[in-house]
Amino acid sequence: MDDFHYNDGALYCENIPASDIARSAGTPCYVYSATTLRQHYTRLRDAFAPLNPLICYSVKCCSNLAILRLLTELGAGMDVVSGGEIFRSCCAGGDPKTFVYAGVGKSESEIRLALERGVGLFNIESEMEFEHVARIAREMNIRTRAALRVNPDVDPKTHRYTTTGKRESKFGVDLERAVAFFRAYGHDPFVALCGIHLHIGSPVYTTGPYVESVQKALALIDELAVEGFRIDTLDLGGGFGADYESDQSPLASQYAAAIVPILQERVARGLRIILEPGRSIAANAGILLTRVEYIKKSGDRNFVICDAGMNTLLRPSHYGAFHFVWPVQPGVALTPPRRARELILPGLERTEVVGPLCETGDFLAEDRLLPPLRRGDLVAVFTAGAYGMAMASRYNSHPLPTEVLIDGASMRVIRAREQYEDLVQHERDSF
Ligand code: LLP
Repeated sequence: MDDFHYNDGALYCENIPASDIARSAGTPCYVYSATTLRQHYTRLRDAFAPLNPLICYSVKCCSNLAILRLLTELGAGMDVVSGGEIFRSCCAGGDPKTFVYAGVGKSESEIRLALERGVGLFNIESEMEFEHVARIAREMNIRTRAALRVNPDVDPKTHRYTTTGKRESKFGVDLERAVAFFRAYGHDPFVALCGIHLHIGSPVYTTGPYVESVQKALALIDELAVEGFRIDTLDLGGGFGADYESDQSPLASQYAAAIVPILQERVARGLRIILEPGRSIAANAGILLTRVEYIKKSGDRNFVICDAGMNTLLRPSHYGAFHFVWPVQPGVALTPPRRARELILPGLERTEVVGPLCETGDFLAEDRLLPPLRRGDLVAVFTAGAYGMAMASRYNSHPLPTEVLIDGASMRVIRAREQYEDLVQHERDSF
């Protein structure tokens, strides 16, 4: 699952004790394992090897330059959704020809940047957007390629905020409109409409919704072929799960076992497959380290107040997401045997793990059985590598946390801790 493990009652990332990392980098701190990142990428690549896909890492989930560079060096392309993501992916050495560019609200300046840099594929989300991209491409005299994002109306059985492929979602165009879309735009001289894009949701813990949506996409590709439109690219999007609890998610090989057989023959006939994984690569490759500032009781509840909160990791508060939380140095007797919602170990206490912000919704873990914690203890929040730092904010004017990358016995600070000056550097109080 990952390279964070307890050894003699203390948490390690690869070969480095988490307490050493906190001592040198401070808290709150996001810690990533380079070995886990590599392993997750290569497992996915190997599992889907029969389709020889282009694997475009979903930058939005964890966009630090060092992580983008690590994945670029392994051969990943990038799934980008903004000018900022195009910019940072280029800074990290990515080749724009291997970028796919999605997003429902691409602005004129973002489209110009994507065309200038030569982004490989635009994933188009609406009729109006296609016309806009085609007009700008004509003006700039640049030719590009595009896929139509279709909405297969499949239920991925995940949180409603991250369900994206159902009819009522704001993404893509309804399947029934797809043929008309190609009739209207499939002969544009500047934007070659040559692909179909899907992304049904995130995380998707079963393979059925993928199978259903791929089958719908293949039926559409056949229907389009009858009308003379040749589709050479099928982008399946992302959404593969991660282990917030031990063994929660199917393995890359299990997703592949369901998806590869449906596509293998198409690939042999020339269809190019793209995948856009984010969470399945980065989530288990990162933890958040936070320090206990105070302990207090309110009514019957036992609050542990940490230096990280919803400003540092928004997922628990925003989605009600479960993240396994455990002390960094619980001792041998309280080493967690696995990551689960409730562990049965001696002496645990019902605990609310909360942050410093002025909001009741500011929590990391609610009503958990945890070893007793004291002021100054370090706590790890697991499976925080995806949509952790990427969604962090400066709410309550807390500077953004630091990020470190561990590789074996080496540790690199890949984002310096922000200082108070950083909070105000773009603000002006005199006119
Ligand atoms: N492709 C597209 C078009 C997407 O919209 C997304 C994620 C991905 C790929 C990557 O999905 P992944 O493999 O990471 O599941 N903030 C939420 C997740 C939002 C996902 C947005 N789109 C969370 O913390 O759970």
